[in-house]
Amino acid sequence: MSEKSIAIVGATGAVGLEFISVLEKLNLPIKNLKLLASKRSAGKTLKFKQTGIPVEETTRESFKNVDIALFSAGSSISRLYAEDVKNSGCVMIDNSSAFRMDADVPLVIPEINPQDALKHNGIIANPNCSTIIMLMAVYPIHKKYPVKRIVLSTYQAASGAGWEAMEELRKASIAYLNDQPFQQTIMPHPYAFNLFSHNSKMLENGYNEEEMKTFKESRKILHDDNISITATCVRVPIFRAHSEAVNMEFHNEAPSVEECKTLLDEFPGIKVIDDRKNNHFPMPNEASGNYDCLVGRIRKDESLPSKAINLFVCGDQLLKGAALNAVQIAKLLV
Ligand code: A2P
Repeated sequence: MSEKSIAIVGATGAVGLEFISVLEKLNLPIKNLKLLASKRSAGKTLKFKQTGIPVEETTRESFKNVDIALFSAGSSISRLYAEDVKNSGCVMIDNSSAFRMDADVPLVIPEINPQDALKHNGIIANPNCSTIIMLMAVYPIHKKYPVKRIVLSTYQAASGAGWEAMEELRKASIAYLNDQPFQQTIMPHPYAFNLFSHNSKMLENGYNEEEMKTFKESRKILHDDNISITATCVRVPIFRAHSEAVNMEFHNEAPSVEECKTLLDEFPGIKVIDDRKNNHFPMPNEASGNYDCLVGRIRKDESLPSKAINLFVCGDQLLKGAALNAVQIAKLLV
């Protein structure tokens, strides 16, 4: 592996900070690490491997002599700098939704379609967090037993809306427990001890954008335009791990529960937690900070027993749903 010069755009954000820690843990061969954010953060210092690195303001010149730029500062920032990144001969690994559905931009989950990463034209997109976590649980089974249709229900954490949303949940919870009024500014509805339909844009068809992403992105990642997905995405008052109930209907006969467990157990990045006796199944607090996605509640769908199964998956939104997946993509390039 050759040493690379890496930049992080959005280094001070919730995903950005995880980029730093995952780069350290996966031990990528790094020649130089540049930490970039907005003008507001210039001058702050962040630690990488015990060394303080000053945060710099992102400019059009930031990508000179950089090999790989990890972006997580929102779609508009990714769009703003995409040409500068490409013109510098640098590869952008973008956590935003800006380019995910562009035909010449690979959308990659390294455990599923690593070969796509090598066909890039300067940009590789990191999929939507709910899509990554769902497909990590679906793909090991789908690979052997093709799935026809998925019914998905998500229970999504605050971290998907960034650091400020996590902070707002913390403050709103304290206010709620103290019977104090609290004015939400980031989330559209009271968040502490409540849940609401995902706060992405509502579309003409009555789905929100997050729900349609799970459908469109899955087809692109799996290279399968026959798979159908219908999703209901909900925001729950959890800090950083998404949970998802997945019903999978197969083209042919459904595999047994035991076979599903074996396929999942053997898959990298998955840990099966399915202890019926002790009622111990995946939980967001056990998925938080965990590099693995946790899968359990694996059972035949009694309404369609020969054709469908149910399972439940929890994954850390900031890690496998964002920073870990992006750094794994970077690893494919070094
Ligand atoms: P800053 O901290 O300087 O505002 P999160 O998703 O957790 O809300 O984080 C968003 C990240 O995007 C932060 O690191 C933030 O930096 C960064 N960011 C926001 N605006 C810009 C910008 N104009 N240029 C570069 N980075 C930006």
